[in-house]
Amino acid sequence: MLIFDSGIGGISILENIKKNIPNINYIYLLDNEGFPYGEKKESFIIQRCIKIINTIIKIYPIKIVIVACNTASTISLSILKKIFNIPIIGVLPLLDQAIKKTKNNKIGLIATTATINSSYIKNIMSECIYAKSIKVIATNELAKLAEKKIRKLSISNIKLKNIFNSWIMLSVKPDTIYLGCTHFSFLKDEIQNIFYQPITFLDSHITVTKIVKQYFLNNQTNQIIKKNVFLYSEYNQEINKLLWFLKKYQFNTIKKINLN
Ligand code: DGL
Repeated sequence: MLIFDSGIGGISILENIKKNIPNINYIYLLDNEGFPYGEKKESFIIQRCIKIINTIIKIYPIKIVIVACNTASTISLSILKKIFNIPIIGVLPLLDQAIKKTKNNKIGLIATTATINSSYIKNIMSECIYAKSIKVIATNELAKLAEKKIRKLSISNIKLKNIFNSWIMLSVKPDTIYLGCTHFSFLKDEIQNIFYQPITFLDSHITVTKIVKQYFLNNQTNQIIKKNVFLYSEYNQEINKLLWFLKKYQFNTIKKINLN
């Protein structure tokens, strides 16, 4: 299984998959050279995803790919599925879950700028009869704060509050927040703390895990990668700050991969 993201966000997807399929082996590709995808043009994101999959399938016997990034999935998933002849699973915001969960009829959707501007999100919003109840925040800062937290760097509460200001100011605040970026799962506690009411957080993790589990049940002989590999696309000092965190995921190898 190849699982990739621009940063550590995809690890939250990996964690959920590992919890449910403990014997799984994986290649995690952290495209830190491309981070943040949320600020990039759609053409860059599409080409980058094609490049990542093409590069990895030449080196490793990959049978399934998880695009563990909402930005990459909303923009490129349908194209990737047409190009590659292996199962490709993405993480796409599913607002119907939030519509079922909300009690005060106020839903928050927070994602990167590129995700919010994608035609996937525009289409689901235009088709959704509850669209008026959905408050949207487009931010590229929150993923950066998650990257800091995982590197044990302090994150500014003022910055965090500024990101959520438009919801904090509402007289009826969202009681259900859809985390439309895989990075945001690492900041649930911090986000909860800035609202003085309990928040239900939703994301696509369970849905993705179910699909992957089903795939491995149907294709039991297909797990031919026998170790866990962590690849990053750019070396810098920041990579060393991640090592403590990566220990939890039993990577046998950690190394750089060239995507240029
Ligand atoms: N983790 C990515 C996502 O789920 C976004 C981070 C970025 O902007 O690169 O959207």
